[in-house]
Amino acid sequence: MEGTKSSLWTKTFKLNDGCGREAEMPQFGFGCYHIESEEPIYESIKVGYRNIDSAAYYQNEEFVGRQVKRAYADFGLKRSDFFISTKVFNDMMGYENTQKAVEIALKNLDLEYIDLMFLHFPATEGLEKDDQQHVVNRHGSWKALEEYVEAGKIKFIGISNFLPLHIEDLLKVCKIRPVVNQFEIHPMYVEKDTIECCRKHNIIVQAYSPFAQFHKTLIEHPTLVRIAEERKLDIARVILLWHLHPSNNFAVLAKSMTPSRIASNIQLANLEPLSDNDIADINELSKCPPITICWKAHGYP
Ligand SMILES: NC(=O)c1ccc[n+]([C@@H]2O[C@H](COP(=O)([O-])OP(=O)(O)OC[C@H]3O[C@@H](n4cnc5c(N)ncnc54)[C@H](OP(=O)(O)O)[C@@H]3O)[C@@H](O)[C@H]2O)c1
Repeated sequence: MEGTKSSLWTKTFKLNDGCGREAEMPQFGFGCYHIESEEPIYESIKVGYRNIDSAAYYQNEEFVGRQVKRAYADFGLKRSDFFISTKVFNDMMGYENTQKAVEIALKNLDLEYIDLMFLHFPATEGLEKDDQQHVVNRHGSWKALEEYVEAGKIKFIGISNFLPLHIEDLLKVCKIRPVVNQFEIHPMYVEKDTIECCRKHNIIVQAYSPFAQFHKTLIEHPTLVRIAEERKLDIARVILLWHLHPSNNFAVLAKSMTPSRIASNIQLANLEPLSDNDIADINELSKCPPITICWKAHGYP
C-alpha cells in the first residue's frame, strides 16, 4: 500500500439514521464524476481512499465495483473497509422508477450492498419547474429507498442538492432520516442557510466540487495564491484545508484523474491547520460574485 499512513486524512463522521443504524463515514472521499477509466479508482484505493462516490449519471458504478473487488485481492481489503455511495438520477424519480434505479445500481456495483444511496436532485427531469409532482415523486423515491434499507441492500440514504425547503419537507414524511446532504461548497460558493439547516437536523454536510473544478477565478485568487506560497503548499491542499478546518468541518469529495494529485489531495493529516487569519481571509471570497459549477434546486417545490 502506498502513501504514508500518518499523512492520510482518515477522520470519520458518525452516521445515525434515527432508527438505530449507525456507521462511520470517512470525511474525505474520492469523487468519480468525469472518471472515464478504471485506473484512477484503483489508484485512489491504492493510496488510501476508502470513501468512493459514484452515481448512475457518471456511468462508472461498474468501474467502482470492479476496482473495489480488485483491491480485496491486491491489498487484502474487505467490503467493510469501504464506504461506497451512488445516486438515483433525476430521471428516475418516483417510487417505481427508484426501485428500478436501485436494482440497476446494485447490479452495476455488484458489492453486496450500497453504503449510501443519494437522491441526486430533489426534482424530476422533464416536469415544469413549479409542478407539485416534484414533491410527490420525491416522497415516492424516498419510500422506495427506505424499503431497500429495511431489506439490508442499502445501509444509509442521503440527499444531494437539497435546499432547506426540500430538507424540511422530507423530514416531515420520512421514516428513515437522510444522513448526508451532498452539495457544492468551495470558498466562492457557500450556501450558509443549507449548511445551518443540515446541522440543525444532524445531517452531515458533504462538499462537492471543492475546487470548483479548478475554475481559474478561484484557483488564481490572490488570497489563495498568497497562502499557498506562505505555506509552501499547492492551491488544492490550501482549499481542502479550508473545508476540513474545524470552523467548517465539511465532509469533502475531491476528484482527480492524475495519480500524483489523487495521492497529494488526501495527504493532509500531517499539515498544520490554516491559521484563524488565513481562514478569515479565505472566508472573504464568499463575498465575491459566486462561481457555481453544478445545478441548483432554487425554485423547485
Ligand atoms: N451531487 C452532485 O450533484 C455532484 C456534482 C458535482 C460533483 N459531485 C461529486 O463531487 C466530486 C468532486 O467534484 P468535481 O469532480 O465536480 O470537481 P473538483 O473535485 O472540484 O475538481 C476536479 C478538477 O480539479 C482538478 N484537480 C484535482 N486535484 C488537483 C490538484 N491537486 N492539482 C491540480 N488540479 C487538481 C482535476 O484535474 P485532473 O482530473 O486532471 O487531475 C479536475 O479537473 C465529483 O467527482 C462527484 O463525486 C457531485
